[in-house]
Amino acid sequence: MRAVDLIQKKRDGLELSTEEIQWLIEGYTDGYVPDYQMSALAMAIYFKGMTMRETRDMTMAMVASGQQIDLSAIAGVKTDKHSTGGVGDKVTLILAPLVASFGVPVAKMSGRGLGHTGGTIDKLESIKGYQIERSQEDFIKQVQEIGLSVIGQSDNLVKADKLLYALRDVTATVDIIPLIASSVMSKKIAAGADSILLDVTVGDGAFMKTIEEAEELSRTMVDLGKEVGRKTVAVITDMSQPVGRAIGNRLEVLEALEIMQGKGRADVTEFICDLAQIMLGLAGVEKSLEEIEDHLVNGRALEKFEAMVQAQGGDLEDLHRPSAAPVVTSIYAEEDGFITELPALEFGLFAMKLGAGRAVKTDPLDYEAGIVFEKKVGDAVKTGDLVAKIYSNEKISQNGLTEFQKNVKIGGVQMKPKEIIKIIS
Ligand code: URA
Repeated sequence: MRAVDLIQKKRDGLELSTEEIQWLIEGYTDGYVPDYQMSALAMAIYFKGMTMRETRDMTMAMVASGQQIDLSAIAGVKTDKHSTGGVGDKVTLILAPLVASFGVPVAKMSGRGLGHTGGTIDKLESIKGYQIERSQEDFIKQVQEIGLSVIGQSDNLVKADKLLYALRDVTATVDIIPLIASSVMSKKIAAGADSILLDVTVGDGAFMKTIEEAEELSRTMVDLGKEVGRKTVAVITDMSQPVGRAIGNRLEVLEALEIMQGKGRADVTEFICDLAQIMLGLAGVEKSLEEIEDHLVNGRALEKFEAMVQAQGGDLEDLHRPSAAPVVTSIYAEEDGFITELPALEFGLFAMKLGAGRAVKTDPLDYEAGIVFEKKVGDAVKTGDLVAKIYSNEKISQNGLTEFQKNVKIGGVQMKPKEIIKIIS
């Protein structure tokens, strides 16, 4: 086979066979299909798409490109969750211990942030000592002992995705359904959990900009999961504004602790309890929302989270310390009304520029930097009310302040944000 012929075939809108897809993925992982041909293929897929059969073959070829984790030594239904990316998305930090606090084992591999979106692993690394690298044996042992572990993705898991995702990121080929579906589902299948909750974000700060696109991505991923015997549910969730109050690694950990002490905003707390109910249901554990919220208020979820931090070398004193950012700048409302928009993409990029995220993979992070919103979409404000605080390493320029203020949209109509838009199972 020759890569050039397969690129041409896809460019002309024809279907690639199972063998051709396997050959391309193997060739790319082993180095005999070079980056420039793989990027041409990704662009051809971007314009011509893939059938469900091709997407399935792509997913399974990617699974086969690396190690597959065997979680069978852990008793019970192992659960996992994945978000297709967002701003201020600290959901895993709360959801994983919350679910584990009901005795359902959570064995989770998470990723780092790139661009305007954050990554769970960066947030956990803002805790002094927290080790994200564990051997497979230690990972399994920890889940057997305390029911919970969140680690970084091992280098051997879905090698093809490591290469392809980095390539897509620099060739404008990320936001295409068959490539997102195969990237996400290959990792979930290889990571070994029995049930998977997919959080498919939609809106300004997400890859999927419309509900229709988010539905198609959800359907594709749910079908892929079910075909290989994993119980899979997708929830389409709003990413038109940041999740919760905080954006930035240390600040998001602090918000997670706040939520796990029953002191979070009602909207984000309810949203996480809804997700927990679905995730528990996938593992065959039926709990009411009251029972679930109780594990936030009575400290059971926090206990699990602290047990995980400690088991992975994290310092519990450091976990609870405030952000050490030297400059804190308050932003006030400039008129009366309601917050109508807080565009997730704009604030994600703003936080990235403060050092909370990376523009390119090699950028160092400032774990302390970010934004905390005191008001969210739908909240009433009066002129002079505190809307947000910016945590930074140096003084924010006048241009920066103007840009921030311009994105805090205030109007006369009260919007009702909706966190879960649709469930696809
Ligand atoms: N998240 C992933 O893991 N892969 C994608 O392609 C997009 C979001």
